[in-house]
Amino acid sequence: MPTASSSSAPLAASPAPIRKAIIPVAGLGTRMLPATKAIPKELLPVYDRPIIQWVVEEAIAAGIEEIILVTRSGKEAIENHFDAHYELEHRLERKGKQTILKTVKNIIPAHINIVSIRQADALGLGHAVLCAKKQIGGEPFAVLLPDVLLLDAIGSPHGHSFKAMMAAWQQTGHGQLMVEQVAQDQVEQYGIADVNGANITPFKATAIRQLVEKPNPQDAPSNLAVLGRYLLPNSVMQLLQKTQPGAGGEIQLTDALDALIAQQPLNAFLTTAQTHDCGNKRGYLAASVAVGMRDEGTKEYLQRIVSQT
Ligand code: G1P
Repeated sequence: MPTASSSSAPLAASPAPIRKAIIPVAGLGTRMLPATKAIPKELLPVYDRPIIQWVVEEAIAAGIEEIILVTRSGKEAIENHFDAHYELEHRLERKGKQTILKTVKNIIPAHINIVSIRQADALGLGHAVLCAKKQIGGEPFAVLLPDVLLLDAIGSPHGHSFKAMMAAWQQTGHGQLMVEQVAQDQVEQYGIADVNGANITPFKATAIRQLVEKPNPQDAPSNLAVLGRYLLPNSVMQLLQKTQPGAGGEIQLTDALDALIAQQPLNAFLTTAQTHDCGNKRGYLAASVAVGMRDEGTKEYLQRIVSQT
């Protein structure tokens, strides 16, 4: 795996490690209706496990020790998924179904703490992050958006970009935002990073000059989209408290991060991973096929079905 480096000089003292990750799960999943009428979108399965489990596993593999779910009423099934289910475990045990039992027991390793916090009003991603302020305390933190699946976190030989991004934080103490290049007509769906025309290369952190949430394609400073993996200094929480509603009338994390740039360096971290937005039907289906293709047992079958369709 290439080593991460920063465009800016590293801090003299080594930065506090990032141990806590916020995963906002309070969205209503309207782009996935009717599938998400009664089921949280985060629990829709991609291949053999819910989307949220892939993302939690990605965070844990990168060294995160505490997962903070920012959730809402009606989404309790997410918490249940990570909890013990004694009756099910007992029955599987009694029937000697050890292989299945292993997949449902201890989804979260014993050393990982998972907590949930309610977001009463859907006021935007920035507001969701701010809801976790008390639980974060004075520490730097990660944010992972569960709509986005990064395939390099699912057993790729090319490295694990979120883990590499954590290493970049550890070297520099500078905030890191994972980015990827998107088509110009898609920039209006994302936070877009302006890297001052720098030639951005994968796994090498590059200084961001400005961030814009969902710009019009003609005004976008680049096609580098922030894709849902953030490593942030604690001071972002203070900035969020002052952030006014922005794009879509919501309190945008992107706007607080744009303000952060005036105080300290913030880097874009280009991933090479295949990414899928599971928050829409096309991306969700693509993610399921892509993960299914990684299983030798399913690959041929999938190829046959697709070629016959
Ligand atoms: C959010 C962020 C946006 C980011 C995107 C990634 O937007 O606000 O900056 O690029 O996630 O998926 P949303 O998709 O929630 O509208």
